[in-house]
This record gives sequence, C-alpha cells and structure tokens, in this order.
Amino acid sequence: MGQGDRAGSDLAAVQAMRRAFESVPIAGNIVIGEGERDEAPMLYIGERVGAPPLDGVEYPAIDIAVDPLEGTNLCATGAPNSIAVLAASEAGGLLHAPDCYMEKIIAGPACKGALNIDAPVEENLENIARRLERQVKDLVVIVLDRPRHEKLMASIRKAGARIRLIGDGDLSAGISAAVRGAGVHAVMGIGGAPEGVITAAALRCLNGEMVGRLVVDNADLERRMERMGITEPHKVYRAEDLAPGQQIVFVACGVTPGSLLQGVRFFGDGYRTHSMVMTLNPNKVRFMDTVHATERPGPRGVRLY
Ligand code: FBP
Repeated sequence: MGQGDRAGSDLAAVQAMRRAFESVPIAGNIVIGEGERDEAPMLYIGERVGAPPLDGVEYPAIDIAVDPLEGTNLCATGAPNSIAVLAASEAGGLLHAPDCYMEKIIAGPACKGALNIDAPVEENLENIARRLERQVKDLVVIVLDRPRHEKLMASIRKAGARIRLIGDGDLSAGISAAVRGAGVHAVMGIGGAPEGVITAAALRCLNGEMVGRLVVDNADLERRMERMGITEPHKVYRAEDLAPGQQIVFVACGVTPGSLLQGVRFFGDGYRTHSMVMTLNPNKVRFMDTVHATERPGPRGVRLY
C-alpha cells in the first residue's frame, strides 16, 4: 500500500489469494479473474483452484469470481476503499462476463423494480427518492470520476441530487448503496463488467437492486461474448441474472481504510484485518475482525488497537 506501484500491489494481492485457495477443499473454477490464460499467470479465467485432491473425497464444484485488489490505484496511492474481494457460488451461479464495461444503476432493497436503465436519469432519481421517502435533493449518488460521465453528472445535478465522485472502486460503492446508514443512495454510470457481476453477488445477499447492460461497442467484443456463451449482448441484467446462484458467498477484506471496512493494520508482532462475509442461503452478513499473530504474543498480550 502507498508505494505508487499499481502492478506490485496487484501482484501481491493475486499471489496471496492464489495461495489461500490452496488450503480450501473445493473444486474451484475461476469464472471471472485476472484475464485470459495467456495474459495472466495466476487466477486466470478457467483456472482450477482449491486444495489438492484427496483419494476418495469429492470436493464441491464451485464457480468463483475474484478481484484480488479492487481499486489498484487506491491501494498504490494509499487512498481509501481498496478491497480484496471474491464471490463464489455453485457451478453456473455467476455470469461469465467478459472484461468490458457495463452501464449500471445500483440502489438498496427499497428500490426493487424501480430502476430503469433506459429511462432518463431524472426519472430514476425520482423513483429512488420516492421509494426512500425522501426528496431528490437529499439523495447522494456515487459516480466514477471519468470524462465519459460528464453528461450523467450534469443530469444528476440538474435534477438536484448530490454527487459523491470517486476515483475508483464502484464495487464497494455499490455495496454502500445497498446498506442502510452509509449515506449513499445509488451508484450510476459505467464501470467494469467483472466488478458488476461481483457487485450483483453482494446485492443478492443484501437484497439490493441493480440493473446493468454490457457496453458492446465493437464486433471484436461481440465475438468474444459469443465465445463466452453470452447470446444477448444488449440484454438488461438484474442482480438475479448476473449472479443467479442459490448458494452465493461474497467476501471482501479491507486493504486501505474505507466506509465499510477498516484497512489492514500492521503491528510489530502481527496484523489485523477486517472482512465482510455474506451468504445468501442462509442469509447472513458477518463482519470478521481478526488479529493475526505472526509471533507468539509478548508479555502484554495481543494488541487490540
Ligand atoms: P481496478 O481495481 O481493476 O483498477 O478497477 C478499479 C475500477 O475503478 C473499478 O472499480 C471500476 O469498475 C473500473 O475500474 C472502471 O474502469 P476505468 O478505470 O477504466 O474507468
């Protein structure tokens, strides 16, 4: 963290996540990963992960979507809200999305059925406000700070809502929009499609709402989609389409401090992590605050803060 080295930050995260899989008794299949096999040495799409097989033991087949470091820039520059994240499900429970962009609108459970990706921004904001029993001027919408969002930002401001601009990390932003008390009511704009699928897995656990559409703007991408089994590239997806599994697990661990999770804190004799573990069935949201002792605690015991 904070070394200005995007690639180095990402590599450290990828290696750590890959190593962690080696002790998990699953027949894991990476469906969203670091890229195609020829461009990523580890956690590539189609890579099999999990503990080495044991004679006579059949491990469950699990599809896994990983983003070992969501917000590489955030981590490299020491900015808030970078996380290590993955979603898993029974085989077939996560869309195999290509590494392209996705238009997204994300909001909380109150907005079920109230989002329409083809409707004007103003209409979506009015619907969100109505469902949340507040006025449009009291809505906070997270938008990625990108030139492609200039028109979107102008429309949100014209409607009277507030914008929280973020440099990166629309995945954790999407989770914030679906939990109460985070001070965020929606996420709008174009971000990564892989992040969209992982966000959808989180939203299934949080009962949040999302509509998304892949940005397919060239023939090459269309062919790639076909190869990945996506037959309707312009389809409007909801969270249930992007992450249709019945046994979804979503896990995120804070890397730098953020609004949902603390970052990793290092002590001389260990470190402390803060993670969110959500399951759809049974529907539980757990926060795990863990002190990892790298040495036996000294005479004053484990350090708690
Ligand atoms: P990385 O962690 O892969 O750098 O992605 C960060 C991110 O901001 C995502 O949260 C977002 O979906 C995507 O990049 C947006 O892409 P771009 O930076 O090309 O606009």
